[in-house]
Amino acid sequence: MITAQDIEALDREFQNQEPKAILRRILDDIPNIAISFSGAEDVALVVMAWKLKKDIKVFSLDTGRLHPETLRFLEQVRKQYGIDIEFLSPDGEALAAFTQKKGLFSFYEEGHEECCGIRKIAPLRRHLQGLDAWITGQRKDQSPTRANVPVAQVDKAFSSEDKPLLKFNPFANWSSRQVWEYIRMFDVPYNPLHDQGYISIGCEPCTRPVGPNQHEREGRWWWEEATAKECGLHKAHVIATDR
Ligand code: ADX
Ligand code: SF4
Repeated sequence: MITAQDIEALDREFQNQEPKAILRRILDDIPNIAISFSGAEDVALVVMAWKLKKDIKVFSLDTGRLHPETLRFLEQVRKQYGIDIEFLSPDGEALAAFTQKKGLFSFYEEGHEECCGIRKIAPLRRHLQGLDAWITGQRKDQSPTRANVPVAQVDKAFSSEDKPLLKFNPFANWSSRQVWEYIRMFDVPYNPLHDQGYISIGCEPCTRPVGPNQHEREGRWWWEEATAKECGLHKAHVIATDR
């Protein structure tokens, strides 16, 4: 079984491999692994993995602020592929206390950390405690903050003291074009927002379509600096590589 000690060598080995080969290796080797699915073009990752392992574990952070189109799309994938997507909800009490104090749109004035912390990071942390490894759709070409995303890493942000958590980003070296070629070639269903000018898709109040020649990340948390456009799901990597 792949261990934290192997991870740097494995990352080097994976740099020249296609996502499918990477997925095959990690799915064969780590039974207690799951894919984190946002309901955007990372559907390509879910379908690619599902073809290799029909009972692949998939979870999604149901923040309560996703677009209706994204929710319908998640349901479509759940049904079409027979995947029991686990929907992770924020803690009700923490959320109620937060919205009562700060309202529903505090992120426009105070930044997105607190809201993302309650709606995404806390449920994710709880869920990751029960896994040995997770898989995400992060790519280097998505954002300047992701230019050094490894394919295989130890997740320093979410590992517990007694157990390292492994994190895999099989699409790290794929371009947006390659992801979309896969979606079209295999007739994979996709979020209809992609036909309405959205490239990167997150929560509804924090995502907007991008115009010609704008980078996909400009449609996310557009009122904040480019370097702050990480919600904490993948921040450990950014901090680690910034050093
Ligand atoms: S984010 O951190 O800025 O929101 P992004 O939308 O680029 O992330 O997606 C990158 C990867 O993070 C996705 O492929 C997925 O693995 C994970 N991710 C992002 N949002 C969610 C979500 N709501 N639920 C599950 N995974 C997510
Ligand atoms: Fe809240 Fe926006 Fe973060 Fe979603 S993306 S959890 S709405 S701050």
